[in-house]
Amino acid sequence: MDSKKIVITGGTTGIGYACAEYLIGLNYQVIITGRTQENLDRAISKLGHQAFGILSDTSSLSAIDDLVLNVKKEFGTIDGLFVNAGIFKGSSFESTSEALFDDTMNINFKGAFFTIQKFISILKNPSSVVLNTSIVVFKAFANTSVYTASKAALESLSQVLNIELADRGIRVNVVSPGVTESPIQKKSGMTDEAISNLLEHFSATSPIGRIVQPTDIAPMVEFLLSDKSLVLRNEKIVIDGGTTL
Ligand SMILES: NC(=O)c1ccc[n+]([C@@H]2O[C@H](COP(=O)([O-])OP(=O)(O)OC[C@H]3O[C@@H](n4cnc5c(N)ncnc54)[C@H](OP(=O)(O)O)[C@@H]3O)[C@@H](O)[C@H]2O)c1
Repeated sequence: MDSKKIVITGGTTGIGYACAEYLIGLNYQVIITGRTQENLDRAISKLGHQAFGILSDTSSLSAIDDLVLNVKKEFGTIDGLFVNAGIFKGSSFESTSEALFDDTMNINFKGAFFTIQKFISILKNPSSVVLNTSIVVFKAFANTSVYTASKAALESLSQVLNIELADRGIRVNVVSPGVTESPIQKKSGMTDEAISNLLEHFSATSPIGRIVQPTDIAPMVEFLLSDKSLVLRNEKIVIDGGTTL
């Protein structure tokens, strides 16, 4: 049987990278995107020949068009799409700037929205779209207003797409990670001390006694991308070690 072809947006570091590595270990063919050349090169050199890397800024609609064309040229059609690229920058509601609002929404929501829309033409029947949201959608955390709104918008989109795309055999499901140790914390501008306090707090208060790792997310994403989840629609798998219980 041919190996399944999966596109992972933001597959160069953190959760997306761990998913790429896990899928490749199960003989999937994986196409990863990212916007930083250095991160993309490093990921591809570690992942090997079953990975294909494409530099693509998910906040640019023309870049998404180019991405789809590129994937179509190299692979024809695909079996699944993990909509994972995202950023987090903490800011109080009162001090959230228009620039931060636009950046977060353009990457986390608008980019995700149009990535799915533009990939429809090369998604097989059946195929799977998996969205990466967050526990922030159902548990409030201060200083996350625009990030939370971007992830809530994504979750609500999942419902509608499961109705509109049903005839094409496209199903949409969600993974909702808790605080996960990844480069996102450093990229958000947090100091090393703030990161270590955050990780220690969530380790100490979690029923599993440790922080969630990107490798904890990967098997859940694989399940939702695989035929094992063929009848699931708008399911949400919360992967937080029980921190929100
Ligand atoms: N870590 C957590 O605590 C946590 C919890 C819940 C949900 N999530 C979600 O999980 C997803 C992955 O986050 P992560 O923790 O794995 O962080 P990460 O290590 O920073 O990974 C983010 C990935 O997205 C890519 N990306 C960012 N902006 C992009 C853009 N404009 N165009 C294309 N690619 C872009 C990054 O590429 P570059 O490095 O090139 O920018 C990187 O590959 C995000 O959607 C995040 O919101 C994370």
